[in-house]
Amino acid sequence: MPQIFPKKANILPHISLIGALFGGVFTIFFVWYYFSPEYTDVGYEPEQPVPYSHRLHAGQLGIDCQYCHNWVEVADHSNVPPTQTCMNCHTQIRTESLKLLPVRESWATDAPIPWVKVHNLPDYANFTHTMHVNNGVGCETCHGRIDEMEVVRQVEPLSMGWCLECHRQPELYLRPNDQVTTMGYVQPADFVERNMERIRIEHIEPPTYCSGCHY
Ligand code: HEC
Ligand code: HEC
Ligand code: HEC
Ligand code: HEC
Ligand code: HEC
Repeated sequence: MPQIFPKKANILPHISLIGALFGGVFTIFFVWYYFSPEYTDVGYEPEQPVPYSHRLHAGQLGIDCQYCHNWVEVADHSNVPPTQTCMNCHTQIRTESLKLLPVRESWATDAPIPWVKVHNLPDYANFTHTMHVNNGVGCETCHGRIDEMEVVRQVEPLSMGWCLECHRQPELYLRPNDQVTTMGYVQPADFVERNMERIRIEHIEPPTYCSGCHY
């Protein structure tokens, strides 16, 4: 009778043992790598096709965030403003500027400016701005002092743990809705009490169960 399991099969348990050891090492590496700041992209600051400055427009000129980021949430539609928004001013201001050449080209050809996305969540994590902005989470809380940035960079990890930190204790982060675009918001001394009260009245309950963010 031919041998079904060749002699070699005896080494299989050893291989699984070694595999398990390596697996363990791999898991540690995996966790370390994924949760380290490098992987979370904190500090990511890609070069943009136009030297557009938030420090100038949102900071010095004081243009409100929502003038350009108006949260019309259409699928596949970016929240970065169309060239038209820039041209509301730049048909009159700095019309000869070389820095604005790609903007005028985009305007003339109808081809959108290829802005590079700074913040990126994987597709399997569900996120909408509207629910946050309408429930008192400020832009500043997630994006930092944009009004002081010449070039936008990511300042928070946007990791699952980071999302959950707030979802478990939103009272430590909320501000009145009319302050969501304020940069440098100063919390009143009793802000936790005020937020607890608001959370109770408005039934603010950010999801902490898996399907709240992963469908
Ligand atoms: C005059 C228009 C304008 C105003 C006002 C403005 N932005 Fe922007 N914003 C842009 C443009 C254009 C981009 C894309 C280029 C870039 O990243 O700099 C952008 C990019 C961003 C990004 C990065 C998006 C990404 O790619 O992930 C964030 C975050 C942001 N803006 C937040 C804000 C906040 C907060 C304010 C108010 C303090 C604000 N913006 C005011 C035009 C504007
Ligand atoms: C509400 C008016 C307004 C809007 C809207 C606006 N800008 Fe500006 N922008 C200005 C002003 C004012 C200056 C400063 C001009 C100066 O320094 O004399 C400026 C300066 C600039 C400069 C520097 C030009 C240079 O030669 O130094 C760039 C680049 C620029 N804007 C890009 C943009 C882009 C891109 C958008 C659209 C996302 C935009 N701006 C929207 C008012 C505006
Ligand atoms: C709760 C955290 C949070 C708040 C509050 C928040 N953002 Fe964001 N923002 C994010 C995350 C996360 C992304 C990346 C989303 C993705 O990749 O799907 C993002 C992406 C963006 C983008 C890029 C969108 C695109 O389509 O390219 C812009 C612009 C932006 N945010 C501006 C703002 C402004 C302005 C405010 C305040 C009115 C704001 N955000 C408030 C977390 C936040
Ligand atoms: C600083 C606080 C804060 C941070 C950070 C934050 N959230 Fe939220 N989130 C909230 C609040 C407040 C609500 C509103 C809950 C309500 O109205 O019941 C909310 C609601 C949601 C909802 C429910 C939306 C709906 O349609 O019901 C989802 C999904 C969500 N957040 C995902 C995320 C993800 C993903 C991240 C991280 C990338 C994140 N949030 C980061 C505070 C936060
Ligand atoms: C508040 C929103 C939120 C909730 C609730 C949530 N997640 Fe996540 N999860 C995220 C985000 C955002 C990411 C992407 C993180 C990143 O890109 O670094 C993620 C990533 C993951 C990943 C991929 C990890 C990786 O390193 O690639 C897994 C697996 C996961 N979540 C499982 C779960 C499970 C299981 C639960 C329930 C116990 C859960 N999540 C609850 C927001 C959430």
